[in-house]
Amino acid sequence: VSEALVIQSHRGPYSVRFSQGTLRQLADESFEKRHFIIDANVATIYREDLEPILRTASTLVIEATEPAKTLDRFTGYVETLVSQSVRRDHLIVAIGGGIIQDITAFLATTLLRGVPWEFYPTTLLAQADSCIGSKSSINVGSAKNILGTYCPPGRITIDPELLQTLAEVDVCSGIGEMLKVHAIAGPSHFDEIAAVYEQLLSDRNILRHFINRSLEIKKAIIEADEFDTGVRNVMNYGHSFGHAIEAASDFAVPHGIAVTIGMDLANHVAVQLGRVSRDYFNRMHSTLMTNSRGFHSVEIPQDRFFAALGKDKKNVGAQLSLILPDAAGVPQRTVIDNTQVFRGACVNYFFEVLKDG
Ligand SMILES: NC(=O)c1ccc[n+]([C@@H]2O[C@H](COP(=O)([O-])OP(=O)(O)OC[C@H]3O[C@@H](n4cnc5c(N)ncnc54)[C@H](O)[C@@H]3O)[C@@H](O)[C@H]2O)c1
Ligand SMILES: [Zn+2]
Repeated sequence: VSEALVIQSHRGPYSVRFSQGTLRQLADESFEKRHFIIDANVATIYREDLEPILRTASTLVIEATEPAKTLDRFTGYVETLVSQSVRRDHLIVAIGGGIIQDITAFLATTLLRGVPWEFYPTTLLAQADSCIGSKSSINVGSAKNILGTYCPPGRITIDPELLQTLAEVDVCSGIGEMLKVHAIAGPSHFDEIAAVYEQLLSDRNILRHFINRSLEIKKAIIEADEFDTGVRNVMNYGHSFGHAIEAASDFAVPHGIAVTIGMDLANHVAVQLGRVSRDYFNRMHSTLMTNSRGFHSVEIPQDRFFAALGKDKKNVGAQLSLILPDAAGVPQRTVIDNTQVFRGACVNYFFEVLKDG
């Protein structure tokens, strides 16, 4: 076990540690006063390691789908935990990706007005990005991530070995968020991770190094602005566009891949608006295209794309609030008019740039 990071939050400090063989170790510990919320795929793949937990502990096994984090489903989760006599001095242990994280964090903040929780992230997106930052978001009907709280886990344990069973598309989705946070840190940081892109998928030491780097970069930003009222805004680089791509494609494009395309589109728009040179766009373009390969011909109806963009919760009146690179190549919050030039740049991107790869 190695202590990697300590994050400061409004609930006090919490730690992120790297470890191996974590599921087996967890299963060897006492289950007294513990409740487990486990991703169904993880429960199946790691059935042997988790067997004692699945057989004897208070356990909720949940299929990690978007409907699973819809408000309606929480009645069932609460009833199960209450039937297992959950108390405020118990611990809820989450094992899974961002969906299991959101469900557990929301329950942990609201159930009995607060039950401590710990997180064992099992997707790259959760290990390299979402596990820190305190946020939980759940869906209500078709309104995605509309209810939420701020409540970090007491402790996070990252076991990169678990990523070996992750589907390639989920690996690329996680890499999308890693590319984002490196771009936010500045062009030299982006170039550093882009230079080893292929090894990220094949060399676990390199992957682990960049998971750690991604968390270090994010740590500095969330500690400065945990409640997302200022500098943390930049973490939305690629996200306004990314969310619109997700919505317009009926979520055919996974989150981190939509963000990857969203960053490329943000760079393209910034070139068209005269904010950065074409060189800046070109520098990132090939890596972003590689990471989003397989999703370039997904149908993205323009009317739905612009409607979703117009509804982004960060907008200011009729103006769009976007994160675009500035003259120094660092993404910054920018409020722009929803002009013909802007829309033309987006349409041009989908029809010319993305289709050509
Ligand atoms: N709270 C936050 O700060 C935050 C941040 C970003 C995203 N999110 C949310 O996270 C969700 C996406 O999370 P995600 O990308 O981590 O994916 P996920 O939780 O949807 O999991 C993706 C898939 O991987 C499977 N899986 C998980 N671990 C595995 C493993 N080790 N081996 C094999 N398969 C495994 C899951 O069963 C699922 O099929 C979205 O709902 C998003 O809104 C939350
Ligand atoms: Zn994201």
